[in-house]
Amino acid sequence: MASQIPREFIDQLLQKIDIIDIVASCVSLKKFGANYKACCPFHDEKTPSFVVSPTKQIYHCFGCGVGGNVISFVMEHDRISFLEAVKHLAQRAHVALPTDVGRAMPKQSSERLYDLMQEASRFYENQLKISDAERVKAYLIQRGLSGAIAKQFGLGYAPAAWENLLQYLKKKQFSVEEMFNAGLLSKKESGKYFDKFRDRIMFPIHDRQGRVIAFGGRVLDNTEPKYLNSPETPIFHKSNQLYGLYHCVKTQRHHDYFIVTEGYMDVLALVQHGVTQVVGTLGTATTEQHLQLLFRYTDKIIFCFDGDKAGRKAAWRALTVSLPKLSANKSLYFILLPEGEDPDSFIHQHGQQGFHSLAQQAMSMPDFFIQFLVAGLNLNLADHRAKFLHHANQLLQTLSDIELQRVLAQEIAERARVPVGEIIKMLKTPKKQAEVMSRLSQIAMPSHLRKIIAILLQYPHHAASVSEIVKELSSYDFLKELVNIIVCQKMLTSSAIVEYFRETSYEKALVELAVQPLLLSEEFLVQELHAMLKKMLSDEKNQAIEILMTKAQKSGLNFDEKRQLHEWLKQKPKQGNVN
Ligand code: UTP
Ligand code: MN
Repeated sequence: MASQIPREFIDQLLQKIDIIDIVASCVSLKKFGANYKACCPFHDEKTPSFVVSPTKQIYHCFGCGVGGNVISFVMEHDRISFLEAVKHLAQRAHVALPTDVGRAMPKQSSERLYDLMQEASRFYENQLKISDAERVKAYLIQRGLSGAIAKQFGLGYAPAAWENLLQYLKKKQFSVEEMFNAGLLSKKESGKYFDKFRDRIMFPIHDRQGRVIAFGGRVLDNTEPKYLNSPETPIFHKSNQLYGLYHCVKTQRHHDYFIVTEGYMDVLALVQHGVTQVVGTLGTATTEQHLQLLFRYTDKIIFCFDGDKAGRKAAWRALTVSLPKLSANKSLYFILLPEGEDPDSFIHQHGQQGFHSLAQQAMSMPDFFIQFLVAGLNLNLADHRAKFLHHANQLLQTLSDIELQRVLAQEIAERARVPVGEIIKMLKTPKKQAEVMSRLSQIAMPSHLRKIIAILLQYPHHAASVSEIVKELSSYDFLKELVNIIVCQKMLTSSAIVEYFRETSYEKALVELAVQPLLLSEEFLVQELHAMLKKMLSDEKNQAIEILMTKAQKSGLNFDEKRQLHEWLKQKPKQGNVN
């Protein structure tokens, strides 16, 4: 996607814009040494761990790990695409976009897509108001929904006809292709288009800026499928949207907790009964993105799924995907509803008070963890305990918070009747360490390489001085690429370099390394850089020499190999003692 805009344009833009101006217009920055600090706008915190560097033109939160250059900040903060962010920044910097970019920008089409969805939503809402919708209103009343809640969430009705929406949107100058791409039409084999949603209650789904991005439509009787949902579109990605989130966060960012339910009706019923911090996962399994999103607004998530087998399974899945994201101050709770109930039916029967007392008794994550794992087992039997221990340990490995790991290990040890030390010991496998490491920065790199990259990112003008030695290295492809782009494309700011690696697996690690404190003076660091690279090169050569020597002993060398070995040994007289 980024390739649609010439890189030179992006580089110029990054030079014209000061990240401090942009960030300062969204959060209140305080000077802190050479940098600026603030409470992170992307997660809840009381002490500032969000740092913006004016020299590197990069931001990074040491609390939640977000980071990047000014384009990333605008994308993340305004929840907009790369192209939208570039356009926005270009406007602010008073620079014109290259004309061909302006034309090729899918941004325009996504803007039209938002307009189209808004129009569709208006259409459905109006249909709910007109008189022959009595049957529909009766249904909503029977479901216990008030007019106020229907209005608040923009509920609508898709009439039982084939082309009503299609004709309406046509009059608003939208093409049939656009409607189809927005997921509002279906297509017959003959190629004829027709309204996808017919005779259904319509639930618009909003993004966090309140724009309609998708719909769910429910039948009014027991026919199947009960719900039809918008497909994935350029503006709708089910796995990172939560129904109702916009309504929760539009007036208040921080919440003491969030209730996560499975369905549209659950969200509406809870909100109507005064339990307003509630979102729905739209019938999909809880994802890591959901968690990450919610933890920006709260420290406590309470899952409240249906009181049946499927609901318990969904809760368990939510627990397992959440483990890597949890810490002592990011906690999960589980409300287990009585069999056959869902949040909607429960609150209608027991009211806000009833629900609140249920929420008070919500199970903590470690309790649910143990309860689920021991279900069906008899821990008096050694083989059942072994089975439990095996499963529990596997999950324990996925936690990244040491404190929480210790709490769970204690619980597991008690049930499995083994000393807790045994369990902790099992955790300290190299694999676990590698996993934790890779989770931290997505790519695992040895520490000397991290140091080298950090120095290069923070002092890119020294890259040219090492480019010859780096070229000689036979492995370290990423390092070679990095030095090459810094030198050849004259990328002299961390921000431009990070931009180059946008959407690669290196992006996150690069941001972290760009802001990592290096403690020594520039002069020392550059000396260290040269020394480390020389050592890497000589290590590589020694290794190659060793391989050839072993081969010489085992099977002999061919002419080229002999010559190569001879040359290497000559270059490195001190290594002559290998023989
Ligand atoms: P539920 O079956 O629990 O629906 O599915 P519900 O929200 O409680 O609806 P009512 O009370 O029967 O009216 C939970 C969620 O799963 C998705 C929907 O998002 C629904 O809200 N779902 C369910 C579908 O997408 N399609 C279906 O056919 C059923
Ligand atoms: Mn229901």
